Amino acid sequence: MKKYNVGVVGYGWAATAHIAAINATSQGRVVAVCSSRPLSGEALSAEHGGKIRAYAQLEEMLADPGIDCIDITSFPSRHRDEAVAAAAAGKHIILEKPMANSPEEVRDIVAAAEKHGVRGCVCFECRFSSQFLVTKRLIDEGLLGHLHYGEVDYYHGIGPWYGQFRWNTELKEGGSALLTAGCHALDALLLVMGGEVVSVSSLATKSASPIFAPYEYPTSSVTILNFASGAVGKSAAIVDCLQPYYFHTHLVGSEGSLLDNKFHSAKLATDRHHWSTLAMKMLDSGDVSDHPYQAQFQAFFDSLDAGVEMPLTSLREASKTFDVIFAADTSAAAGGQVVRLT
Ligand SMILES: NC(=O)c1ccc[n+]([C@@H]2O[C@H](COP(=O)([O-])OP(=O)(O)OC[C@H]3O[C@@H](n4cnc5c(N)ncnc54)[C@H](O)[C@@H]3O)[C@@H](O)[C@H]2O)c1
Repeated sequence: MKKYNVGVVGYGWAATAHIAAINATSQGRVVAVCSSRPLSGEALSAEHGGKIRAYAQLEEMLADPGIDCIDITSFPSRHRDEAVAAAAAGKHIILEKPMANSPEEVRDIVAAAEKHGVRGCVCFECRFSSQFLVTKRLIDEGLLGHLHYGEVDYYHGIGPWYGQFRWNTELKEGGSALLTAGCHALDALLLVMGGEVVSVSSLATKSASPIFAPYEYPTSSVTILNFASGAVGKSAAIVDCLQPYYFHTHLVGSEGSLLDNKFHSAKLATDRHHWSTLAMKMLDSGDVSDHPYQAQFQAFFDSLDAGVEMPLTSLREASKTFDVIFAADTSAAAGGQVVRLT
């Protein structure tokens, strides 16, 4: 039986992928959509299945006692107010990235959820991808030994051909190369390296191509990370490139290395002059219909059933990634000055 009724805020590209993914879980179903654009409940129901009510005001949707969870897929500048209002209404929260575009707003969201006893799921769905589930398993099995270097980079040209371009070019909405999209790679780097980040240094720039001229902020950045373990890492966030989507991963440890879907482990005594290959589904597309939302939302609803925080992408866990991102953006604004995380 479906037991978690979900109301979706914002009805854009991400929302359509979320609705299908939520409805495909064992426990969740979308029963309402709230958008500033006039929508018809009948049309929504016909398109997505089930019975979906349309709301124009968030307060009205939040007042519906039949809704258990609010899924926020709106513009980033609205995430803080909508998430805080959802928490105050006692609704659990699914929240698209970026959580918000300032450290204060992210803190407000985490605090509101804790105050009102609701749980959250931040859409860092790459943590639930086949690629990173397998990569993490390889590390946890000790096949790479102790990691002392890692790089995970995001290369995805977000130009006029991509729907978000009409709003994520604005500083208020996009924020930075990391906030608007590169956050997925930095988050994956934190997942695989584990442990706390002590300090970061970041530099940012912009393509000379007129295609990307509308961006109000630097659209390429590279961040160097210093981990408490002594390991170092690097994450590039490049949204102004002209190339295929590429989520690059290179990890180096005391027993071997991993390069995307290839690895060598001295523990297996294979030939270190040749890579072995991992059969896994790679993150190779910026299309939301290819994203592993269903696995993530299933884990969220399972955690609600168990009365615990979800694994990997709870509000508090995701907020740690945003702490690093805001520190990196502060560093880039200061020309690469080292910024310590407290
Ligand atoms: N996790 C991911 O990989 C991923 C992928 C895509 C988007 N997102 C995030 O999801 C959120 C929404 O992004 P999106 O790609 O769905 O953006 P979108 O432009 O399709 O929709 C964004 C907002 O605009 C509204 N909207 C859409 N068309 C509109 C119109 N014609 N008039 C008025 N409003 C309109 C939508 O209802 C929604 O609230 C953002 O926070 C984005 O960062 C995340």
